[in-house]
Amino acid sequence: MKILSALQLQLYSRLGLSNEMKTSQGLLALTAAAAPSLAAEALLAKPPMGFNNWARFTCNLNQTVFTETADAMASNGLLAAGYDRINIDDCWPLHKRAADGSLQWNATLFPDGMPWLGSYLKERGFHFGIYSDAGTFTCGGYPGSLGFEEIDAATFESWGVDYLKLDGCYVSPFTTKRYKEIYSHWHDVLSKMSKPLIFSESAPAYFSGNKQGNNKDWYDVMNWVPEYGELARHSDDIPNFGDSTAWGGVTTNYDFHTLLARLQKPGFFNDPDFLIADHPKLTLTERKAQFALWCSFSAPLIISAWIPALDKEMLDVLKNEHLIAINQDPLALQATLVSQDGKWDVLSKSLSNGDRVLTILNRQAQDDKLFVPFERAGYPADPAGTQEFNVTDLWTGKSDTSTAKGLTVNVPSHGVQVYRISALYGGGRDVVVPTGMVFNTASRKCLTAGTDGSTVSLDTCTASDSQVWRVNGDGSMHSLAFPNNCLGSASNGGVASLKTCDNTPAREQQWQYQTTGHIMNSGVSGTCLTAGDNGSVVIVACGGDPNKQVFEMPSGSLSG
Ligand SMILES: *[C@@H]1O[C@H](CO)[C@@H](O)[C@H](O)[C@H]1NC(C)=O
Ligand SMILES: *[C@@H]1O[C@H](CO)[C@@H](O)[C@H](O)[C@H]1NC(C)=O
Ligand SMILES: *[C@@H]1O[C@H](CO)[C@@H](O)[C@H](O)[C@H]1NC(C)=O
Ligand SMILES: *[C@@H]1O[C@H](CO)[C@@H](O)[C@H](O)[C@H]1NC(C)=O
Repeated sequence: MKILSALQLQLYSRLGLSNEMKTSQGLLALTAAAAPSLAAEALLAKPPMGFNNWARFTCNLNQTVFTETADAMASNGLLAAGYDRINIDDCWPLHKRAADGSLQWNATLFPDGMPWLGSYLKERGFHFGIYSDAGTFTCGGYPGSLGFEEIDAATFESWGVDYLKLDGCYVSPFTTKRYKEIYSHWHDVLSKMSKPLIFSESAPAYFSGNKQGNNKDWYDVMNWVPEYGELARHSDDIPNFGDSTAWGGVTTNYDFHTLLARLQKPGFFNDPDFLIADHPKLTLTERKAQFALWCSFSAPLIISAWIPALDKEMLDVLKNEHLIAINQDPLALQATLVSQDGKWDVLSKSLSNGDRVLTILNRQAQDDKLFVPFERAGYPADPAGTQEFNVTDLWTGKSDTSTAKGLTVNVPSHGVQVYRISALYGGGRDVVVPTGMVFNTASRKCLTAGTDGSTVSLDTCTASDSQVWRVNGDGSMHSLAFPNNCLGSASNGGVASLKTCDNTPAREQQWQYQTTGHIMNSGVSGTCLTAGDNGSVVIVACGGDPNKQVFEMPSGSLSG
């Protein structure tokens, strides 16, 4: 049986294939063309796009906010650009359920009622989404859905709702087990509907950021949310309109997001929260940056802003067809970190036609420029041949061909540049090899090749060649600093080391990447790459402390 590479496993898991299917001979020849048709079967094959009132208006909502927003989106081109969802957040109900137990809207806020609003939106080409809570109350203190799951699902359906955001306030006891019981029950309820609602799960947000002393609970919840719903709010709320800072909140959610790429696939999206497109504390550059990052991630594009008042410049940003195309790409890959050094983040991912996305964020307080080799975007340098690329700047749509070794990119402070790169040699997609950081997601330390070319450690990320890893089609990996030395292990309990790449039949240099974030060794059965003491890297039994065994690595391509 052919050995599946880490990349193939990643790709199969993204497409939602079972283990059995993975090993069947036919699917080993899976091509890019197969991806869109499989993806199309998912309830939500591509990231949702639309509007939610929360970050902009919090509880100051009413019917007019939604009707005027929908009217504006229909006339200003946002609807045509793909933003076709209008979602209501917290504070819409009355404090009391009706005699039959159903939720009721506040008729002062929604004088014509929810069924009327649902029809209003549908007639104009929008889907209608609503909010409730897994616990006894919503975060705003309105009735929660606990114990009323069936009746609330039926009520929402009768109003024309097809999307439910389920928050996680007032869940007791506060354990991952309790959250799992409630969210899995909702999944069962929704699955039985003739047209299941799209299910947005806020459960992980209650366990992110070491809130419980470590990441264990967060990983636990993130591992089950893809089974139950289509998207999950994984971390903090994005800053509200009234918050006195905003860029810090955007980068906080962005940083959490970079820890989760392995979980995303067509049909399930990690959700870093709303696009705060009119936040008074964000510069235009920062608003553009948020949009470009969210597009690179194939993240939900849910705008929380007063859309009727957005200026043309911001509307043009949100309608950028080149960036929306990479957001809505059928592979639904989330760009992963190529390098990070405190000043610059470089990310990349593959697109369904074999192109690569290269995204560069300048985190510094000043404008600066950076040289990024094409090698780091996933195109191994070929000393013998000329490599020609077609490079499209996705802000302008302007393309240029290049035979240079890389791109020199000028980026304003807190700005993002995004490029789409096609290889004009070697058959395009066939030459791509995923390349980037391999890092522990609890410590955010990078797998680093030692200067001797034989040791490895987990160190502060510096963007050096010793921290940029190429993941080959056979499941082996080596840093750009030592292209001939592959990561391997001799024994269970041993330290990881670099040795001459030899594709050994013992397979100790081959690795399989799991959606749980474990990097399993193929040669030493049941062992995983593990953070040891003092920055050491060891190979020990999988299933130990997840804080030591959950890694992120470069996102899959179609090679291998
Ligand atoms: C609806 O809410 C918006 C935003 O809070 C507010 O500006 C507006 O005055 C409200 N309209 C009505 C009719 O209450
Ligand atoms: C309905 O909304 C109005 C306007 O915000 C508010 O004054 C009133 O208290 C709400 N009614 C209930 C029962 O929550
Ligand atoms: C470069 O890419 C752009 C955008 O995808 C495309 O329109 C153009 O034809 C390409 N040029 C070449 C030389 O392939
Ligand atoms: C880790 O480093 C500390 C301080 O240098 C040292 O005391 C300890 O023995 C080291 N632990 C291991 C397992 O190497």
